[in-house]
Amino acid sequence: MLPPMKRRRPGSKRRLKPAQASSLTPSPQGKRRSGQVPAGKAVKLMGPREVTSALVEALRARGEIERATQRFHTYPARLHPDAAQRLLQVLPGLRLLDPFCGGGTILVEGMMAGRHTWGNDLNPVATLVARARTRLLGPGERRALQAATQRTVKTATALTSQKLQAPEPVLPLTDWYEPHVLGELTALHDAIETVQEAETRRLLWAMHSSLVVKYSLRASDTSARRVKRKTKKGAVLEAFTARGVELVGMLDELMRVVPEGTPAAKLRRGDARDLSGTFDLALTSPPYPGTYDYLPLQHLRLAWLGHLDALGDQKQEIGPRRDFKSSAEEGYRRWQTSTEAWTMAVAKVLAPGGHLAIVVGDGISHGRLLEARGPTMDAAAGAALTPFATASIERADPATGLAKREHVLVFRRPGEDAASEGDAPEPEATP
Ligand SMILES: C[S@@+](CC[C@H](N)C(=O)[O-])C[C@H]1O[C@@H](n2cnc3c(N)ncnc32)[C@H](O)[C@@H]1O
Repeated sequence: MLPPMKRRRPGSKRRLKPAQASSLTPSPQGKRRSGQVPAGKAVKLMGPREVTSALVEALRARGEIERATQRFHTYPARLHPDAAQRLLQVLPGLRLLDPFCGGGTILVEGMMAGRHTWGNDLNPVATLVARARTRLLGPGERRALQAATQRTVKTATALTSQKLQAPEPVLPLTDWYEPHVLGELTALHDAIETVQEAETRRLLWAMHSSLVVKYSLRASDTSARRVKRKTKKGAVLEAFTARGVELVGMLDELMRVVPEGTPAAKLRRGDARDLSGTFDLALTSPPYPGTYDYLPLQHLRLAWLGHLDALGDQKQEIGPRRDFKSSAEEGYRRWQTSTEAWTMAVAKVLAPGGHLAIVVGDGISHGRLLEARGPTMDAAAGAALTPFATASIERADPATGLAKREHVLVFRRPGEDAASEGDAPEPEATP
C-alpha cells in the first residue's frame, strides 16, 4: 500500500472556479526560443519520493516499444507504454479502469501486470483497436483467425477482378485513394462482411482499419494533408496478410506475458461522464485542452467501418481543438467544466481508498498556454479526492517556444483501502 501524502489543512481546500481569461498564460511578447526551456525538467513534485520518482520516469518515457500488441494499429495521442507500465508499478488496485482508453495502451499494460481491466472511450475506432489489442486467444480462436485471414485474402483477390463499388459511406471519400487501392480495400471489406464469427470478424476489421489511412492519400492519422503515393498493385492485399501474421504473433506474446487467470479487458463505448461499477484504480490520459478532434480525425476509418453515425457524438467530445477556434477562453472554460464532470464521475465509481491517476498535458491555442494542472487539481478537490502525489515536466513547444508541461497527478478517494473484489460493470457491445 502506498503511504499517504501530507494532507492539506482543512479549509484550504481548492474551490472549483470557472475558467477565466486570466488563467490562460499569455505568450511572452513574440516567441520564446525553444533552447531557453530545459528539456524534461521535473517540477511540482509532491508526495512520497518512491512514487514521485516513478511519476517522473513515466513522464520521461521515450522511444519505440514493441512488446505484445502495443504496436498494432496507430492511435493519436497514445500514452507511452513504458509510462503506463511504470505507473502501474507504484499504483495498487486490482480492478483498473481507463475511462479514456484510446487504443488501449493502459489496458494492455494493466493485463500484463495481472490487473482486471475495463476500458471506455467515446470513439468506436478506439474501442475496436483497444479490443483487438487485448484479446487472449485460445488455440481454437487463434486457428480461426489465421484461417479467416487466409480466406478473406483469397476471396478479396478473386473479387478484385470484378468491378466493385466502394461501400456506401466511403463513396464521398473515394478521392482519398488510388483506384486500385480503393478496389483492394473494398474487396477486403466485402470479404470480411461474409465472416460469420463475431470476434474473428472484429479482429479482421481492426486489421483492415490499420490499412485504410496508411494506404490513403492522407498524410497520417493526425494530418489531413494530401500526399502523393504510388502503391503497387496487390500491396494492400499483401499488407493485410502480413497484418494477420503480425497480429497473431503479437497476441501470442500477450498470452505468454499476461499472468494466468487475468481476464481480457472489457470495453465499452460511451461518455466518460457516465460510468458505472466499482474500481480500485482509474489510470487515464484524458483529452488535453485544444489538442485533437478525435472523432473527425477518424472520418475515413469510421466510413469504412460503417460507423459515420459516431460523428454525431462530437458534441460529447472533451476539449476538442474546434472548441477553441473562435475563442481560447471559451474552449478552455468548456474543457474545465468537462474535466470537473468526468473527474466527479470517476470519483463516484472509485472504491474507498482507490486511486485516480491522470496523465495530462498543457495545450496551446492562439499562441497562449492552456494550463492543465490547476483545473485538474481543482476538479479532483471538487470531487472530494485527496492529492496523493504529483509530478510535472517542462518541455518547450517547438512551434511557439512556450514552456508546456506534462503532468501525472495522483489522487486518492478517502476511506478504507480499496478491496479487490466486488461489482464491476458488464461492458456494452462494441462495434
Ligand atoms: C489522450 S487520448 C487517450 C489515448 C490512450 N491513452 C492511448 O494510449 O491510446 C484521449 C481519448 O479520449 C477520448 N474522448 C474524448 N472525449 C471523450 C468522452 N467524453 N468520453 C470518453 N472518451 C472521450 C478520445 O476519443 C480519445 O481516445
